[in-house]
Amino acid sequence: MRKSIVAGNWKMNTTPSEGIDLLANIARNIKQNVNTEVIIAAPLVHLNALADSTTSSITIAAQNCSQHLSGAYTGEVSVSMLSDIQINTVIIGHSERRMLFSENNDIIRAKVNTAIEHGMQVILCCGESLEVREAGNHASFVTSQLEENLFQLTPDRLSQVTLAYEPIWAIGTGKTATPDQAQDMHAHIRSEVVKKYGNDIAQSIRILYGGSVKPANAEEIFAKQDVDGGLVGGASLDADSFAAIVEAAHK
Ligand code: PGA
Repeated sequence: MRKSIVAGNWKMNTTPSEGIDLLANIARNIKQNVNTEVIIAAPLVHLNALADSTTSSITIAAQNCSQHLSGAYTGEVSVSMLSDIQINTVIIGHSERRMLFSENNDIIRAKVNTAIEHGMQVILCCGESLEVREAGNHASFVTSQLEENLFQLTPDRLSQVTLAYEPIWAIGTGKTATPDQAQDMHAHIRSEVVKKYGNDIAQSIRILYGGSVKPANAEEIFAKQDVDGGLVGGASLDADSFAAIVEAAHK
């Protein structure tokens, strides 16, 4: 059985001191369960303090990292900087990075490779725009993201990867994929991983759903066979909502 993951993505929200309070409230509100991992991906300037203040039951993650190891890359943060402050998990390829910061598949593949080679756990995001969905090309679009961003990895590296399917049309829009739409895509993603890496690896990789997950819809989405939890944006900024979503993953 795959252990579920509920990962909060705070994006560019909260000041560092607000982040400390929010993490404390989340830690107070969530009921621990051995079958669910809880992750909070916070802004970079929060990470050091949050890593120091977190309890062992909540993993603190970065929302991005550089594909380069060090050097003249003004404004960037390397994986060794992250691991030096005990941050060993990073989100790569979020649609906001792809769309707003022009991260193409080559950049994302390079980031995945660098992070994986340096021992990080990676949450790799994929997902299609509304235009692609309406044209009926969503499955092939996500396949090509997997081919470009993931399938260069050797099988022994896949244990460091969690996938997150986030249809762009559902992110921050209040519009959620239906549980069946999520399940269809998750099953598709898993079948692509079967083709490339075989059934054992495909059955063990976690695939999270992201896009307007909230307490009201989490349980129904997480109940689907190939949905192993969620990547939660807006609702992770409210400790009660986030705790309720974690609770939904326990069921
Ligand atoms: P949302 O964001 O839950 O606010 O839709 C999800 C995400 O972008 O990871």
